[in-house]
Amino acid sequence: MKFNTTKRAFAQVDTAALLVPSFQGESETGLCNLISTAGDGAITNQATLEKFTGAVGQTLLHYPHKSLAAKRVILFGVGERSKLTVASLRKAMTAAFKAARAAKINEVTVADASLSGTKVSAAQYAELAATVSGLIDYEINHNKTEGVLGYAPRPGLEELRLLSTGNVSSKVRKGLAKGRAIAEAVNLARDLSNLPAGELTPTAFVEEAKRIADESGGLISCKVMNPDDLAVLGANGIINVGKGSDEPYYMVELVYTPPTGATKDVLGYVGKAVTFDSGGYDLKPADGMRHMKRDMSGGGAVLSALQAIANLRLPISVKAYMAPVENMVSGRAFKPGDRIRMLSGITVEVDNTDAEGRLTLGDMITYARRAGVTHIVDVATLTGAIRQVNSDVAAGLFSNNDAFAKRLKAAGERVGEQYEVLTMWPELRDNNKAEMSDLKNTGGPAGAGATTAAWFVRQFAGEETPWIHLDIASVAFRDREFGVDPKGSTGFSVQTLVELAGEFAKGSKPA
Ligand code: BES
Ligand code: MN
Ligand code: ZN
Repeated sequence: MKFNTTKRAFAQVDTAALLVPSFQGESETGLCNLISTAGDGAITNQATLEKFTGAVGQTLLHYPHKSLAAKRVILFGVGERSKLTVASLRKAMTAAFKAARAAKINEVTVADASLSGTKVSAAQYAELAATVSGLIDYEINHNKTEGVLGYAPRPGLEELRLLSTGNVSSKVRKGLAKGRAIAEAVNLARDLSNLPAGELTPTAFVEEAKRIADESGGLISCKVMNPDDLAVLGANGIINVGKGSDEPYYMVELVYTPPTGATKDVLGYVGKAVTFDSGGYDLKPADGMRHMKRDMSGGGAVLSALQAIANLRLPISVKAYMAPVENMVSGRAFKPGDRIRMLSGITVEVDNTDAEGRLTLGDMITYARRAGVTHIVDVATLTGAIRQVNSDVAAGLFSNNDAFAKRLKAAGERVGEQYEVLTMWPELRDNNKAEMSDLKNTGGPAGAGATTAAWFVRQFAGEETPWIHLDIASVAFRDREFGVDPKGSTGFSVQTLVELAGEFAKGSKPA
């Protein structure tokens, strides 16, 4: 999509749809001043008839008569001026761009708002417009054929223009560019997660990682460890999960070094990248397996976040780890009752081959710690149990460090991604105790499956390095549209990871 700015009189904007923010309770109809200036009385009448008040989430589609060059005007409510926040504006713009999408047009112009008396800057307004338009315009990477079963393609949004009444500042331009980079990254994560497992194999995932590194202009280096490398290393957690498949398995390390040089703080982002989870010999039933091509969503989010972080040239060092594997059934597969000596040396009894994600995370986290990361965030579609906690509205957040947990949760709030900080009750830690190994890979029949999984992973993170585990199995994909997210894969966590990196960048010192 192209993003441009345009400085022009309101009435003269020749566009398929002019999106105009409207504050609640300003002028008798609550319409934007610009509309009244343009003098189209019809829109005022329509607003009254449709009870459009300017509340957040409301939109009004108007076909102007002669007074405006725009083919359509879409008013979108942004609520009361004093209450405008980035969060409420995100909701307002979500409704606005959905209305534009419903009009099946390929180009829109967003009017700038007079933001005085609000907590939102012009740069944030521009960034949100770019982000939200990009996220709403997402179309699943389908291979549908025009005409078959009546399929007709919808034109994508090719251009977004920001109409400005004054001169466009470089901050606003930067906001647009940032929003675009973020939307691109989230949409990449959605694409990867929506891809069938037969297309996004572990090898194909590795190719994607290499591509992100290649396109970073030298800011990201990529190291790929194949099965032989992993055997030499002793990454038996990853090996055991991957060895039952005809597809090879890997661990990928991406290292992002900012153009301004490495920093003391080094974020370690770790993503579960199981490209298909059949459950292994503890085979999933059909209903449980249906979506398991999406079990690499955490890894896809980490990969995509790295792309955005490099695009934005954030001044913070980040190392990312993903172990693309398939969890399959075959004569070579690991079995219930097997024992594994993990990369860290900790021994694990395989209580259930379907609890595979935590085995790959354990080895990746060990590797990340050895590579000197100062903070760890792992992102994983780890347990079905997390869906029992928050349905599909929030992810679970577990941590060994309250301050770090708060920081991530706050970053999520700023970008519209919801996390619930869940207590790691000490009484549940020993649920991972096994008969003849240090740990078993399930928390037993006691319930609290998301928490016991977090406790398992924490044995590898340790207590010194601040660590967060995000269980995104509840939100990585949905069977309905939700906010800016389409049905299917959501790209959840990408924005949080980028936002957190941005925040670390502010306080970062050179290494
Ligand atoms: N990938 C699944 C978790 C999952 C379930 C993700 C539903 C997305 C939607 C994970 O590998 C898994 O199978 N977990 C088991 C663990 C159990 C065997 C201890 C689960 O949650 O049932
Ligand atoms: Mn599983
Ligand atoms: Zn899994």
